[in-house]
Amino acid sequence: MNEPLIPVILGTARPGRRSQAVAEVVLDVMKQRHLATDLIDVADYPMASTAAEEAGTRLDHYRELVAAADGFVIVAPEYNHGYPGELKLLLDSEFAGYGRKPVGIVGVASGRIGGARMIEQLQQVVTALRMIPVLPSVNIANVTEAMNERGEFDVAYLGTALDDMLDEVEWYARQLAVARS
Ligand SMILES: Cc1cc2nc3c(=O)[nH]c(=O)nc-3n(C[C@H](O)[C@H](O)[C@H](O)COP(=O)(O)O)c2cc1C
Repeated sequence: MNEPLIPVILGTARPGRRSQAVAEVVLDVMKQRHLATDLIDVADYPMASTAAEEAGTRLDHYRELVAAADGFVIVAPEYNHGYPGELKLLLDSEFAGYGRKPVGIVGVASGRIGGARMIEQLQQVVTALRMIPVLPSVNIANVTEAMNERGEFDVAYLGTALDDMLDEVEWYARQLAVARS
């Protein structure tokens, strides 16, 4: 097969979101690994409710990307111990395209446990969508310590955590692409 297509879903639209800088680093690392990838930014799909999707032609583009993907990486912050509402609305706008595809989750938090509570809740959601959540996840705790004055996230802060997760996402993406075909 060609290189698997594994888009990165950025799960918050908050102005000033630090998760964006993290998602950019994740995209860079994935490109260095010669994975095909693309950014799916929830900010590009503003929805106030599930009803809004009826009006949104942009969601057609999202569904096309999901259908073409072999797996996913979600970069999302922990908000009050959960995932952002806009991420749930976007995920809920599609169903069939996710099935039998792996997903790795990167939790971003200014707190000390790196979004662990958000990740565990999101794993339940992606399971309902028939994705295959892989372990290990990536927990980015105290994210402000890893950012410079220009708002850039230091890849060194990740250690081997991101590569360890991407090893799993890529393995499942390749195996399941063959199985689905
Ligand atoms: C509404 C809201 C709720 C938050 N709740 C938590 C939380 O439960 N745990 C935590 O570690 N950080 C929490 N934070 C702080 C975020 O972790 C922090 O903003 C971090 O930079 C990641 O989010 P961001 O991508 O929006 O910047 C919260 C931030 C907001 C805006």
